[in-house]
Amino acid sequence: MSSPAGTAGLEGVRLRELEWTDLETLAALEQELFEGDAWSVESWWHELAGRPRRDYVVAVGESGAILGYAGLDLAGETGDVMTVAVAPHAQGRGLGHHLLTELLRRAEASGIRSLLREVRADNAAARKLYERHGFDVISVRRRYYQPGDVDALVMRKLIGGTHG
Ligand SMILES: CC(C)(COP(=O)(O)OP(=O)(O)OC[C@H]1O[C@@H](n2cnc3c(N)ncnc32)[C@H](O)[C@@H]1OP(=O)(O)O)[C@@H](O)C(=O)NCCC(=O)NCCS
Repeated sequence: MSSPAGTAGLEGVRLRELEWTDLETLAALEQELFEGDAWSVESWWHELAGRPRRDYVVAVGESGAILGYAGLDLAGETGDVMTVAVAPHAQGRGLGHHLLTELLRRAEASGIRSLLREVRADNAAARKLYERHGFDVISVRRRYYQPGDVDALVMRKLIGGTHG
């Protein structure tokens, strides 16, 4: 795999842990990014309460504004990418790569061997992002997303060591 896009557009961006004071902002960003599938403030409280099994990071700009966020469910040897999301105005600058790189670092550090993610087949940016980080499609759930009859691609990345 060639290395993912550079991080030239990320000067001044830093990653930090998710905090409860972020939840209103995240719920608003979810509405912009996911509409009908958006997580509410209540959903985010659940995620935050699920730590340390749930593990979220946010990306902030120089002003402190949240530009993106990402998170994991770390359950034994198999984990799930819960979300990777970048605010519309900050997309296309390598922030998705930056966030996913951090999730992979955290997953490996926690001993995860296999990381899973369901991706809409019509989400070209997300597919590209995960493929660039070594995720393979291992199965397809036909017409999983309704309405729209959109397939779900189940993608997996094996992490660290030998597998067999
Ligand atoms: C998917 C998402 C996280 C990508 O974040 P981003 O910061 O825009 O992505 P990056 O700039 O890091 O680029 C990631 C890759 O996607 C590609 N990409 C970005 N936008 C794209 C688009 N509209 N169509 C096709 N590919 C695209 C980039 O070229 C890059 O691939 P490359 O390294 O081979 O060039 C972002 O678009 C997003 O938040 N989308 C809405 C929420 C979402 O769908 N999340 C994923 C759920 S599985």
